[in-house]
Amino acid sequence: MTSELVMSIWEEYWKEKKYNPIVSNPNQKGVYDGQREDLITSMGMASFLEAVKEDFKDGFRVLDYGCGAGALGNFISERLEDFTYVGLEPSSGQGRDRIQTALNAFGNDSRIKFGTIDEDLEKVLENPFDAVILISVFTHLEVNDSYWILDRLKKVFDVNRNASIVFSCFTAEERRLHWHQPQIWERYYHESYVRESDWENWCKDNGLQLSKVLDFPAAHGYVHEIYKIHKL
Ligand SMILES: C[S@@+](CC[C@H](N)C(=O)[O-])C[C@H]1O[C@@H](n2cnc3c(N)ncnc32)[C@H](O)[C@@H]1O
Repeated sequence: MTSELVMSIWEEYWKEKKYNPIVSNPNQKGVYDGQREDLITSMGMASFLEAVKEDFKDGFRVLDYGCGAGALGNFISERLEDFTYVGLEPSSGQGRDRIQTALNAFGNDSRIKFGTIDEDLEKVLENPFDAVILISVFTHLEVNDSYWILDRLKKVFDVNRNASIVFSCFTAEERRLHWHQPQIWERYYHESYVRESDWENWCKDNGLQLSKVLDFPAAHGYVHEIYKIHKL
């Protein structure tokens, strides 16, 4: 069930669409990557962007790390005219297919670019971003992989000290839930729970600050907890 907070954020700021999306038929084009565009996924994207609302205006620059087939880019295109969106996926696994789907769907829109983490991340991070967003990425990875990613992404603060990294994760609380749904947990989420204090320690070691944004009720009854990392 969607929380009142998520609903009120949606109603107040994100529901209104000002422009036509770049991809007008995202479900047919595979932009939602096996899921469908619906109110819950839109509210989910809004809940991440809420964390960087003060930067969400024309000129907004976002790196979507683990972007799938670019659904966030399409969502932004309905709300801003002038923005830079870079979506990256791993070159292994299904990453390349997702990027190919995205490239086919988004065509040559100059505001949107896609690439692979292995080949493009370093170069991409030389550019200034207001936000790096990881929607449902850490929720599928082991904790050490998440730290590995943050260790690379923290470079974003060297180029723009006012940048933010926004991500979702499960905290240890979710571990109790997975005993009730072991097949779902094994299949989709692996060992991806972490304690809030683990993120806090990582931030402290790197001169960064952690803030909790909100809890987002996502698929399978799990709650994706959204956090933001920024410079002190
Ligand atoms: C649940 S999907 C979410 C996709 C997209 N962020 C969205 O919300 O539509 C998780 C994504 O993370 C990507 N992924 C898997 N392992 C990754 C890794 N080590 N680094 C970055 N992305 C990864 C997958 O390829 C997949 O597209």
